[in-house]
Amino acid sequence: MEARLQELQQEALAKIEAASELKELNDVRVAYLGKKGPITEVLRGMGQLSAEERPRMGALVNEVREAIQSRLEEKVAQLEQAVIEQKLAAETIDVTLPGRPVQTGSHHPLTAVIEEIEDLFIGMGYEIAEGPEVEKDYYNFEALNLPKGHPARDMQDSFYITDEVLLRTHTSPVQARTMEKQGGKGPIKIICPGKVYRRDDDDATHSHQFMQIEGLVIDKNIRMSDLKGTLQTFAKKMFGDEREIRLRPSFFPFTEPSVEMDISCMMCHGKGCGTCKGTGWIEILGAGMVHPNVLRMAGYDPAEYQGFAFGMGPERIAMLKYGVDDIRHFYTNDVRFLQQFKRA
Ligand code: PHE
Repeated sequence: MEARLQELQQEALAKIEAASELKELNDVRVAYLGKKGPITEVLRGMGQLSAEERPRMGALVNEVREAIQSRLEEKVAQLEQAVIEQKLAAETIDVTLPGRPVQTGSHHPLTAVIEEIEDLFIGMGYEIAEGPEVEKDYYNFEALNLPKGHPARDMQDSFYITDEVLLRTHTSPVQARTMEKQGGKGPIKIICPGKVYRRDDDDATHSHQFMQIEGLVIDKNIRMSDLKGTLQTFAKKMFGDEREIRLRPSFFPFTEPSVEMDISCMMCHGKGCGTCKGTGWIEILGAGMVHPNVLRMAGYDPAEYQGFAFGMGPERIAMLKYGVDDIRHFYTNDVRFLQQFKRA
């Protein structure tokens, strides 16, 4: 009986040693220490032993059970620890790895140019005004001294929605709306950025939808020299201090007199090159003194109030400033194009 117990102990300990999973250890526990196990069987056989032998054998059985039990517990703890360590190793984060770079966006070059122009005029005391892109014929043309049938309407081929409603062809209707809202009283100093639409075939320099920035100043004693000084300041701030400006007589139905402003070419500094088509000058914007008819239609008395207005295309300005050769780059939004305008 004693030999049998030693044998069972050896066997159980060997199996515990060999186990590599918790389940195997549980199997060993059930097999050797369970109610139907061999050790219980040995205990049952103790009835046949003599009274002197019985306590010694009982003690021996307990010793064997305890030996198996304690070795089992040790091994369970060992395996559990191994599982934890394995898990920790698998989940380790290498904090020294370089991070994934976050792609930062940037302002669209047109937005950047518009904001630059806005900032410049806000610095001179202007406010920003906006108006609808779907506009009444009245504000787009009539209130700007372009009655129905006026030949100058042809300068701006329009997308009509109904006879009286169209997609605005310029930002000048915002002038008319702002003056009307003022009720013919008090000064105005606004710039109006926004989208405009014309029935043009798209090519490198034309687009059926583009941006304009309009400027309007109304006050008492406003003169042509105020317009010239304002445009000069704008040209120098926008294109560099060494820029000269030149005003050429032009025609717009809503201004009288009307001018077009050129700046001295920033590429060749006036000598003549491809950008300025050999002239040394680059056309930037249209402007003029607000026509008395326009003032009158909005309720202002031209004897009391005068004003000047100007309109420019941010695309053209951005093209000149950044050397972009095709207006369509601004609308196709190729990321390779846009990324070049990331500001540091
Ligand atoms: N609205 C004119 C255009 O689109 C530009 C302009 C604005 C001219 C204001 C004079 C005064 O061509």
